[in-house]
Amino acid sequence: MPDLKAEIKKEVSRRKTFAIISHPDAGKTTLTEKLLLYGGAIRMAGSVKSRKANKFAVSDWMEIEKQRGISVTSSVMQFEYNNYCINILDTPGHQDFSEDTYRTLVAADSAVMLIDGAKGIEAQTIKLFHVCKLRGIPIFTFVNKMDRASKDPFELMEEIERVLGIRSYPMNWPIGIDGDFKGVYNRKLKQIELFTGGEHGQTQVSSQVGKVDDPVFADLLGSHYHDKLCEDIELLDMAGDEFDKKKVRNGELTPMFFGSAMTNFGVQPFLEEFLELAPSPGVVEAIGGDVDPESDKFSGFIFKIQANMNPTHRDRLAFLRICSGKFTKGMSVKHVNAGKEVRLSQPQQFMAQERTIVEEAYAGDIIGLFDPGIFNIGDTLFEGNDNIKFKGIPIFPAEFFSRITPADTMKRKQFIKGINQLSEEGAIQVFKQIDIGIEALIVGVVGALQFEVLEYRLKNEYGVQLRVQNLPFRHARWIKNEGLDPRKLNLPSTAIIVEDKLGRNSILFENEWSIRMTEERNKGLELIDIATQD
Ligand code: G4P
Repeated sequence: MPDLKAEIKKEVSRRKTFAIISHPDAGKTTLTEKLLLYGGAIRMAGSVKSRKANKFAVSDWMEIEKQRGISVTSSVMQFEYNNYCINILDTPGHQDFSEDTYRTLVAADSAVMLIDGAKGIEAQTIKLFHVCKLRGIPIFTFVNKMDRASKDPFELMEEIERVLGIRSYPMNWPIGIDGDFKGVYNRKLKQIELFTGGEHGQTQVSSQVGKVDDPVFADLLGSHYHDKLCEDIELLDMAGDEFDKKKVRNGELTPMFFGSAMTNFGVQPFLEEFLELAPSPGVVEAIGGDVDPESDKFSGFIFKIQANMNPTHRDRLAFLRICSGKFTKGMSVKHVNAGKEVRLSQPQQFMAQERTIVEEAYAGDIIGLFDPGIFNIGDTLFEGNDNIKFKGIPIFPAEFFSRITPADTMKRKQFIKGINQLSEEGAIQVFKQIDIGIEALIVGVVGALQFEVLEYRLKNEYGVQLRVQNLPFRHARWIKNEGLDPRKLNLPSTAIIVEDKLGRNSILFENEWSIRMTEERNKGLELIDIATQD
């Protein structure tokens, strides 16, 4: 037993599980690919151009898979670097943006916020940032595309604080921001790092390193860049925040890195610094006692369910984040929510190159469990006799709503069954309008594509054709005040009162302005935008 404890402790401490949050096109796919390159998981990144062709035909990961002839799954990838075991969680963007994107963040111990240096903070980054902030996880910023003209780095720091409300600490500072990116100044080591090589991002770059006052660099950079750098460093040291590891860990200060994923400039220094600063799996709060990741008892929760789109296979894949202990193939664990033992016989893990049957895994890892329909989002699995239950996974704000009915009223039973199933998988949020009865259900989704998935799956798996009426609502807010009768509220004429699947009252609004007006008109009313599953 002491051996097992020591083994778990060692394995947990070398694990880093994180997600990259960004707006589409900021370079998430490129950066991930480069991290894999440095991790030795792939030998050569392909030319970015060739990836563009079918970009919108399939998800980004499938696209890499096709281009590189390697199998990369759409959910999580594991690779090793400097004896760290790294799990990168994919947060689907583009047309795949859905509630799963948010839910994935629940399984991450930290996040990398990727920003396009020319565009600054964009809409999807803000949404994902708020979920990370809510969880209090550390957030690291990588300002990408520095090989092109970018915003002034001081301006970017100011923007991060103004828009996201978090202070930043530049770990390095770019040299040449007008499309002439030469390298960075590393603030910790107080040295200039000029990048060379890289063959346009296909292989690792090397750098020429030295002190700022080394005349070689004054020559290499020319007086314009060199003087500007010296000025900037002085200003940063004088007026910037102190580096405070505790604030980073609490998500109050974001370490900021500048680089270019495409050319590989700055990727490796970022990876190395990130791995040193990012937390390994920590204690997880649970009902019945907090869970220590180094405990010798296995535990975890389901955060995502991927249905099989093939109608002849109804099976699903449930993604489990391990929170403590060691997982071994075939082990029997308690399924808390169903109140029974289950054997985890065909677990899958996702290495960079392939999807393999996993023999062992540790806290921090993600495994895919074959699911014949017994798992739901938020389920707790654990080994041993302690009765624990992880807190429910939040329901994240839907942005599109439709009223749906079966085209054929005789199919109502299958319709309800299908809707319940998809709601359990977390693909859709189901509401019923209080004042018009249960005949027409309202479905809310985070990404508009989910409606297409809903129609497709109900037709193919349940034989139900849908009638879909798009509604103008963009926000759902739950009423926090207990016992309040929502019918007595003074609401704008465009808002409606609904109940979620747990019978909780919520209001659908068309815009932020209506929400504010409702709060002003109804003093004491408390509205929340993220509820829990249970
Ligand atoms: P995403 O997953 O965040 O959506 O972004 P992705 O990596 O697919 O990158 C989006 C575009 O940005 C790609 O160009 C990619 O080549 C480019 N890109 C990524 N990192 C960098 C960088 O560091 N510098 C520059 N200049 N560009 C970068 P594309 O328009 O899809 O193709 P292409 O026409 O550039 O080949």
